[in-house]
Amino acid sequence: MAKKDIDWSNIGFGYMKTDKRYVSNYKNGAWDNGALIEDDKVVISECACVLQYAQTIFEGLKAYTTENGNVVCFRPDLNADRFADSAKRLEMPVFPKERFVDAVVKTVEANIDYVPPYGSGATLYLRPYMFGSDAVIGVKPANEYQFRLFTTPVGPYFKGGAKPITIRVSDFDRAAPHGTGHIKAGLNYAMSLHAIVDAHEKGFDENMYLDPGTRTKVEETGGANFIFVTKDKKIVTPKSDSILPSITRRSLMVVAKEYLGLDIEEREVLFEEVKDFAECGLCGTAAVISPVGRIVDHGKDIYFPSGMDDMGPVIKELYDTLTGIQMGRIEAPEGWIKVIK
Ligand code: PLP
Ligand code: COI
Repeated sequence: MAKKDIDWSNIGFGYMKTDKRYVSNYKNGAWDNGALIEDDKVVISECACVLQYAQTIFEGLKAYTTENGNVVCFRPDLNADRFADSAKRLEMPVFPKERFVDAVVKTVEANIDYVPPYGSGATLYLRPYMFGSDAVIGVKPANEYQFRLFTTPVGPYFKGGAKPITIRVSDFDRAAPHGTGHIKAGLNYAMSLHAIVDAHEKGFDENMYLDPGTRTKVEETGGANFIFVTKDKKIVTPKSDSILPSITRRSLMVVAKEYLGLDIEEREVLFEEVKDFAECGLCGTAAVISPVGRIVDHGKDIYFPSGMDDMGPVIKELYDTLTGIQMGRIEAPEGWIKVIK
């Protein structure tokens, strides 16, 4: 088989149907054996719990072609763990970790011709998800579930790739205290749709959400965690019970400390402090590390000294080291890279 004829360097972050997807069904208290199938359509009851009460969770991870031509995934075991946490919070059955990782491997293998080549700037995005599939009309969890995993080649999440973006402080909340912000549930993203459309209409790339309780602390954006760099090169990242525990962010903290020798702090970050940081970035699987050049707070601008043209120097070092590990140019910590081919 040969690589698909795709203009890899010019694809954006969009959906492209690939050949195979993995499906497993849960019924009578057990998961079936699962299989790779060609049909990309989902057929479920009109009254499925996912359609009525949004009982759905998902994950996001990527497959990369490394410098020496292998195809690898980055820390899929952590996606499996987080998927299990998400399932428990929405009263869904856990899809076992070894089965999750196996589904990742099988689906990437089955779509290997869609894994973008090394150096193209694109990657294969993997979207595992699970939803309540049988009919419920009273508010309660479904009895039957479907786990699926599809792949799609993607380019940069933000147009312009490494160009700093402009975000605004949102007046809409995404997650409630003691709510579901810490899990990857579709409902959190439904909550953010109006806010992102409104932000885009007003010329902003993303929303910065503050803690809904006091609106004084930095939380995250609709699809990524924050990292800040202080003027003396310390890495600061917000700690909150209502943000998603980003695998990219947790990995970057290790990279900062162990590879770059930087001090790291995971703590509450007051919005008030933001103007004093030297650099700001959004980190996530889709975002990788996207630099933020400007934050608009109700008409007041915060410009970071790193400017609007390029990534700041420390964020660039973090970016180069993380992507170097993912693409096999830099030796990875034990267990971070799952070789598929
Ligand atoms: N925060 C939110 C709300 C997200 O949707 C994501 C994306 O998965 C992240 C953070 C980043 O998490 P990760 O680095 O595990 O992709
Ligand atoms: C990811 O980074 O995998 C996400 O799920 C974020 C989403 C905005 C695409």
